[in-house]
Amino acid sequence: MCLDIRASMRPRILLCATVLCLAGYCSGAIYESVTELSRHQSFDFIVVGGGAGGAVVANRLTENPKFNVLLLEAGPTPEGLGDNYTVPFFTVFLRSNTLTDWNYTSVPQPGLDNHAIPYPRGRLLGGCTSMNGMAYMRGSKADFDRYASVTGDPGWAWDAIQPYIFKNEHWVPPTDGHDETGEFDPAIHGFHGINAVSLPGFLTKAIENRIEETTQELSDLFPFNLDYNSGFPLGVGWQQSTIKHGKRSSSFTSYLGPEFIGRPNLHVLVNTQATRIIQTRQNPKEFLTVEFAQTRDGPRYQLTASKEVIISAGSLETPKLLLNSGIGDPAALRKLGIQPAVDLPDVGRNLSVHVGAFLSYFVNGTHTFDDILRNSTRREILLDEWKTTNGGGPLGITVGANHVAFNRLPSTVFETYPDPAPGPDSPHIQGGVWNGNTKVNMVDISIPADGHFITATNFLVTPASRGSITLNTTDPFQQPLIDFGCFTNEFDVVGVREGLKLAMAYIGAKAWQGYVLAPLNENITTATSDADLESFARANSSPTGHIVGTASMSPRGADYGVVDPDLLVKGIQHLRIVDASVLPYVPAGPTQGATYILAERGADLIKAKWE
Ligand SMILES: Cc1cc2nc3c(=O)[nH]c(=O)nc-3n(C[C@H](O)[C@H](O)[C@H](O)COP(=O)(O)OP(=O)(O)OC[C@H]3O[C@@H](n4cnc5c(N)ncnc54)[C@H](O)[C@@H]3O)c2cc1C
Ligand SMILES: *[C@@H]1O[C@H](CO)[C@@H](O)[C@H](O)[C@H]1NC(C)=O
Ligand SMILES: *[C@@H]1O[C@H](CO)[C@@H](O)[C@H](O)[C@H]1NC(C)=O
Ligand SMILES: *[C@@H]1O[C@H](CO)[C@@H](O)[C@H](O)[C@H]1NC(C)=O
Ligand SMILES: *[C@@H]1O[C@H](CO)[C@@H](O)[C@H](O)[C@H]1NC(C)=O
Ligand SMILES: *[C@@H]1O[C@H](CO)[C@@H](O)[C@H](O)[C@H]1NC(C)=O
Ligand SMILES: *[C@@H]1O[C@H](CO)[C@@H](O)[C@H](O)[C@H]1NC(C)=O
Ligand SMILES: *[C@@H]1O[C@H](CO)[C@@H](O)[C@H](O)[C@H]1NC(C)=O
Repeated sequence: MCLDIRASMRPRILLCATVLCLAGYCSGAIYESVTELSRHQSFDFIVVGGGAGGAVVANRLTENPKFNVLLLEAGPTPEGLGDNYTVPFFTVFLRSNTLTDWNYTSVPQPGLDNHAIPYPRGRLLGGCTSMNGMAYMRGSKADFDRYASVTGDPGWAWDAIQPYIFKNEHWVPPTDGHDETGEFDPAIHGFHGINAVSLPGFLTKAIENRIEETTQELSDLFPFNLDYNSGFPLGVGWQQSTIKHGKRSSSFTSYLGPEFIGRPNLHVLVNTQATRIIQTRQNPKEFLTVEFAQTRDGPRYQLTASKEVIISAGSLETPKLLLNSGIGDPAALRKLGIQPAVDLPDVGRNLSVHVGAFLSYFVNGTHTFDDILRNSTRREILLDEWKTTNGGGPLGITVGANHVAFNRLPSTVFETYPDPAPGPDSPHIQGGVWNGNTKVNMVDISIPADGHFITATNFLVTPASRGSITLNTTDPFQQPLIDFGCFTNEFDVVGVREGLKLAMAYIGAKAWQGYVLAPLNENITTATSDADLESFARANSSPTGHIVGTASMSPRGADYGVVDPDLLVKGIQHLRIVDASVLPYVPAGPTQGATYILAERGADLIKAKWE
């Protein structure tokens, strides 16, 4: 039994199944090496990338025992990360210099005082859901209604995607077992889905009580909202996170969990990067062959899917893979020496990402989480607590964020700028107070040796700027050129400036008096004018991990965009994209929720075609 695996660069590598099927039973599994794959002859579907999107697709397609699915993931499984993977608080240790990071740096951002931004992304099974902050937010009703209107497909509207929310979500009680009544709306949550979601399992009363007081004292600006996932996020609500019993619930833990990974038709090959998708010779509109490699200098292999190839490599690697496959702007491709195959100039364009700047404050108290980062003895004690209490204590929550505040910008802003929000009930700013000194993305987790802090967070979730992903070289193991385009549209710096004012207004409530002492960064104290605040915003802002738009959906037949509303790449048969890159606008909230939802629908669209 010799297989359909060819090593294009070193043709002598022809894999024959000799060893692993001797028992006569070939079960699906996670394989480390291409040689282990040799026992399977053919695949109906090949999925590239095992993050939020890819894990959902692989799971849902293999519900049908007739579909044989191969999932390729560039990185390893999370297992080698140990507690840093499992313990929610330790997300801060997964954001730079790990074996499982893509280690990106952006091109210098003129809007951000020319800073080149270090940018972590998960290169492991589960993708960014195996290293992210675990906040669970769906976005607003208006976000999805806009996806429907700009794609011409009512199937993307909020009401239409409800079943996919329920397929994804598996609500579980908070780790500390506290009464969750009045902290969320059970009517709008899924209790039988796959990915766990819960309320915070560890509360810091000194902070939580003051937030509650703030919602009463400043109820105009910061009213309590029972559930920000209702489609109407405005106000202050309890944070919901993809955490189960104090442990990370990633797409690896959930969609590729023990009850699924043993399916005989699900095959996962890790440490394997797709390098190109290759045009099928008989049909120039068909790209069913995936070229891949396990190391940069190692052999290139090829496998051909019989039904579809699904790219789920994420907002940075998906456009890179398309461009390396000759799918993009022909002129730009020719310059790099790539033979253009499909004329789709929007590949890598229209990147949309949240951007924000935080404000940390000294507080009058010693209970903050700062010591967890700067005192390893304290960390060990809490890790013991987390182990003995089955996920309890501060390590069982994500970096001290127990509430979220969603706000509109003041209407005066829109006398000068068009409103980029999808509707009047949709927020511009995601804020709220976090326990401890935190920076956007937490790549830098250094904190002062002394002092205790809280941080008023501030993300602009309706950026008007657009960035791009382009190729620097044709080597698929080199990073692309990442230009976030931060503050290239003037509205965005104004938005972050106004977000800083909202953060100061929140902290300025009487509830915080005697507790909040002074800002950590003295420049915010001396900033008085809008111009000062904008300078502060440029010096201190960073794009977040919530990035979309680089392989955007557009209406069927449109001469712009990259995929049709059914996620098929325009002008190509049987090649789909199912990941965050297809969202034409970043939603009002971190993006794993929207990615899970779109992938659940994407999987349904694929099944509808082939079942
Ligand atoms: C630091 C950080 C914090 C975040 N925090 C939150 C949060 O708190 N809440 C939230 O909702 N969202 C958060 N996000 C965003 C969220 O995790 C992502 O939006 C989501 O995971 C996107 O899913 P995806 O499938 O598009 O891509 P990913 O999850 O990134 O998955 C892509 C996968 O494809 C693999 N891959 C790439 N190229 C190839 C190739 N050529 N061959 C094989 N495999 C390949 C990658 O290694 C990766 O595993 C965060 C992101 C980051 C980076
Ligand atoms: C977890 O992160 C810490 C801090 O970066 C590091 O010292 C430790 O080696 C990591 N553990 C593993 C198993 O990678
Ligand atoms: C990222 O950096 C770490 C630490 O240097 C390294 O182990 C890892 O292989 C790098 N990742 C990639 C994709 O090169
Ligand atoms: C670190 O934490 C331990 C345990 O809580 C404590 O005894 C010690 O004093 C702390 N060290 C410093 C420098 O604060
Ligand atoms: C682009 O490629 C050149 C040449 O290989 C390299 O020197 C440079 O660092 C690359 N740029 C980025 C941002 O990776
Ligand atoms: C700190 O809090 C205590 C009460 O807990 C109070 O007496 C003291 O005045 C506060 N310090 C400051 C600087 O406000
Ligand atoms: C304050 O602003 C000055 C001038 O822009 C800058 O040099 C300094 O680093 C800033 N300080 C902090 C703490 O950001
Ligand atoms: C890019 O985004 C703009 C909105 O900023 C939109 O008008 C345009 O249609 C988008 N293009 C694509 C290809 O989605």
